[in-house]
Amino acid sequence: MKDASNLDHLSPDEWDEFHSPRPETTDFDRVVESALSRRNFMKGVLAFGSGAAVMGSGMLTSTSARAQAAATFAFDALPIATDHTVHVPEGYEWKVLARWGDPLFSDAEPFDAATGITVASSGKVFGENTDGMEAFVVDGRQLIAVNHEFPNIDTNLPWKGDNAFTADDVTILQNIQGVTVMEIEETDDGWQIVVDSPYNRRIHHNTPMRMAGPAAGHDLLKTSADPDGTTALGTMNNCGSGKTPWGTYLTCEENFNGYFGASDPASVETPGLQRYGVQAEGRYGYELHQARYDVTQEPNEPHRFGWIVEIDPADPDSMPVKRTALGRFKHENAAAVVAPSGQVVVYLGDDERGEYLYKYVSNGTYTEGGSTEGLLDDGTLFAAKFEDDGTGRWLELTPEATGMEAAEILIYTRMAASAVGATTMDRPEWVATNPVAPQGYVALTNNRNRGIKPNAGGDPTPVNGPNPRAENNYGQIARWVPDNGDHAADGFTWDLYVMAGNPLVGQGPYAGSDNVDEGNLFNSPDGMMFDTTGTLWIQTDGNDSNDGPFTGMGNNQMLAGNPETGEIRRFLTGPQGSEVTGLTWSGDLRTMFAGIQHPDAPFPDGPDSLPRSSIVQIKRSDGAAVG
Ligand code: FEO
Ligand code: CA
Ligand code: CA
Ligand code: CA
Repeated sequence: MKDASNLDHLSPDEWDEFHSPRPETTDFDRVVESALSRRNFMKGVLAFGSGAAVMGSGMLTSTSARAQAAATFAFDALPIATDHTVHVPEGYEWKVLARWGDPLFSDAEPFDAATGITVASSGKVFGENTDGMEAFVVDGRQLIAVNHEFPNIDTNLPWKGDNAFTADDVTILQNIQGVTVMEIEETDDGWQIVVDSPYNRRIHHNTPMRMAGPAAGHDLLKTSADPDGTTALGTMNNCGSGKTPWGTYLTCEENFNGYFGASDPASVETPGLQRYGVQAEGRYGYELHQARYDVTQEPNEPHRFGWIVEIDPADPDSMPVKRTALGRFKHENAAAVVAPSGQVVVYLGDDERGEYLYKYVSNGTYTEGGSTEGLLDDGTLFAAKFEDDGTGRWLELTPEATGMEAAEILIYTRMAASAVGATTMDRPEWVATNPVAPQGYVALTNNRNRGIKPNAGGDPTPVNGPNPRAENNYGQIARWVPDNGDHAADGFTWDLYVMAGNPLVGQGPYAGSDNVDEGNLFNSPDGMMFDTTGTLWIQTDGNDSNDGPFTGMGNNQMLAGNPETGEIRRFLTGPQGSEVTGLTWSGDLRTMFAGIQHPDAPFPDGPDSLPRSSIVQIKRSDGAAVG
């Protein structure tokens, strides 16, 4: 979710701290030292995994070694931008594929540049704040499933002002969030939505969903509308995405807490609601119009959100399924991979300061074309423990280890991970796994309030190995290699792929790792996805002021990273105010689709229109593959 703190300038105190000389010995030194000692190990693993020449690895590579590395990207680095449009390198072209308010069905009214969409059409159009997405080819047709994370009130309800939310306002907001499944087709004018395709579907805050897995039917999931605790209404704050090996979509419920309120403020004073940030005043007025969002009346309703939801894009009549075995937290995305044993492993991040990185390992095994029954319902959840010596372990969340019953571990997963002593992280955003080497990567976006805003477990978030900076404006990407190249293994070895920073204005660790230079400055890595060739695409959601500590970084952007050499090169810049998030490719890999979330006006329709979050399509001018 858009983090308001990202957009603030530093206070004078923070500015002083930022520029203060670095202490002689820091935790940063310690982690760099231990990382350096692992260089050869990482190189060995990469060579083993990819069979390609290896020049070094990430921040561990010396500048000279990197300079000798062959150029590995098919494009020239793009300069920063501070304007209101999208830029891609020479030899590439972009255009809009879908904007908030574009019709999915022909009976939707046209988008009004001044007022947006009507309540009657709000569930028939492409939703707001495009985020994680995945592409699917079904019966030769190209589908995209895509999230709509949260609303922008000034844009979506431009008439509202300071007035209270009306019932119609709430309905519009509920309809423009969630998920779109849509068919697209390539025309002489590029890819376009196939209006009225039988695959087109909006899934929003009132779509019925089945609760599955060990927590389904638990008392904590029962409400007056659903006394069995097995059928929830809606999915919300859908942030990142995932794709199962069997071709279904995973949508990830992140900041669900903001949709709830309490008519009696005392109702939110329970450990479970506090740990997940539910407050007495909701952000969007839902609780004023619909009793289920008032936790005084329905204390269990928030327990029905914060899950991974599986959607079958090939079957528009299918009911989405909330997979409780994958735990409940502020899910960022879901990176699914099949272990050598056939077990399905899903890596999961919880995006909040001081929360954790997780993985799920199925008990059953996947075989292509075989039954997938139970693969996301029956398994084990682990939280990551990173040691400063560069090793790590996945800590199993069991009743014995946590003192919690099995279903409670899934419903209050954050508490379970705290109970076993998992490593607190600087806001885990997307996780990505490398298709050509046994590696996982997690974007740790930033952490500007380490001691100021501790997690609800009570302790300030400590500095530790993968989170080495006390005042972390910039973020870093940590990566791990599972023992024996097996993602189902309990142990791993880790290092930092990159520490974002600013050598123009920062010193020591605030200058960033040595694969950061004037030509590729960025802050706050967030979206992350590998393409089929093993290039890591990094999207940012950070401070785009281009000022102070963020001088020389410009607007939010997308960069390509080489896992072997550590080289990082800017590929795309977004319009001012936007976050670049969500990435997928057409089946023939000749088109890349990227999400532009919450741009400022005039993107993309000009100064007389409300701004519209959009998916853009990017092609090479020569028609070759882009991933
Ligand atoms: Fe919705 Fe953590 O990004
Ligand atoms: Ca966002
Ligand atoms: Ca994100
Ligand atoms: Ca973010």
